[in-house]
Amino acid sequence: MHYERNNDVKIGIIGAGNLGTAIGHRLAASGHDIMISFARTPEKVEQAAQQIGHDATAGTPEQTVAFGDVIVLATPWGVTLDTVAALADALAHKVVWDTTNPFAPTMDELVIGTTTSAGEQVAATAPHATVVKAIAPFAQALASPSTTVEDRHPTVFVCGDDESARHTVATLVADIGADPVDTGPLKLARFTEPTGMLVTNLAYVKQLGPGIALALLGR
Ligand SMILES: NC(=O)c1ccc[n+]([C@@H]2O[C@H](COP(=O)([O-])OP(=O)(O)OC[C@H]3O[C@@H](n4cnc5c(N)ncnc54)[C@H](OP(=O)(O)O)[C@@H]3O)[C@@H](O)[C@H]2O)c1
Repeated sequence: MHYERNNDVKIGIIGAGNLGTAIGHRLAASGHDIMISFARTPEKVEQAAQQIGHDATAGTPEQTVAFGDVIVLATPWGVTLDTVAALADALAHKVVWDTTNPFAPTMDELVIGTTTSAGEQVAATAPHATVVKAIAPFAQALASPSTTVEDRHPTVFVCGDDESARHTVATLVADIGADPVDTGPLKLARFTEPTGMLVTNLAYVKQLGPGIALALLGR
């Protein structure tokens, strides 16, 4: 499926680390307005906004949620549900693009999975938000000049119970230089999250490096 670029989505990013900054930079370069938040110091958030460029701004998580039509969740799993719980009311009626991986620190196990998922836990914590799970490619790939690996864009599975929100996030996934695959309901995140685990383990534990990517062939 071809996803038409939509230039006027306001994006609030929670998580001013490697992934939040890299996604922000690519979405800003695609013409979206960006506000970023969430680090241990305001200086780190300001630095992330500067790295994103294109007039991106730094805010608090509350300001970021108020700003965005779509809220990108790019927080370490260990602090994700507390962060979402604190913002749950403000997240009502927002599309939440959840990029989190519920990894154990050893990167060889999920702390939850197969009978539920991080995506479903985020949705249960912010019950009036519309949550879409789509695990982005490696931040290193997004921060490099091209995301293409062997002439293909990395596949990103897009799971959510709302078709329109899946379409919105799939369009943003295409904007960051990845290939969205509409996977259907949020509960499919039970299986896409272990896929993220496997690829990350191969990259960092098996040391194939973040230049690898997953691609779904034959569709
Ligand atoms: N990196 C990737 O390639 C990649 C790819 C796909 C999915 N993901 C997922 O994306 C999420 C973010 O990953 P990342 O690599 O961007 O992590 P990261 O670089 O460690 O960034 C995490 C951000 O959260 C902030 N943070 C952590 N604990 C905090 C706390 N208690 N209070 C306030 N801020 C806090 C950190 O602030 P400080 O910098 O001040 O510590 C940092 O800005 C994870 O769930 C990861 O699994 C990552």
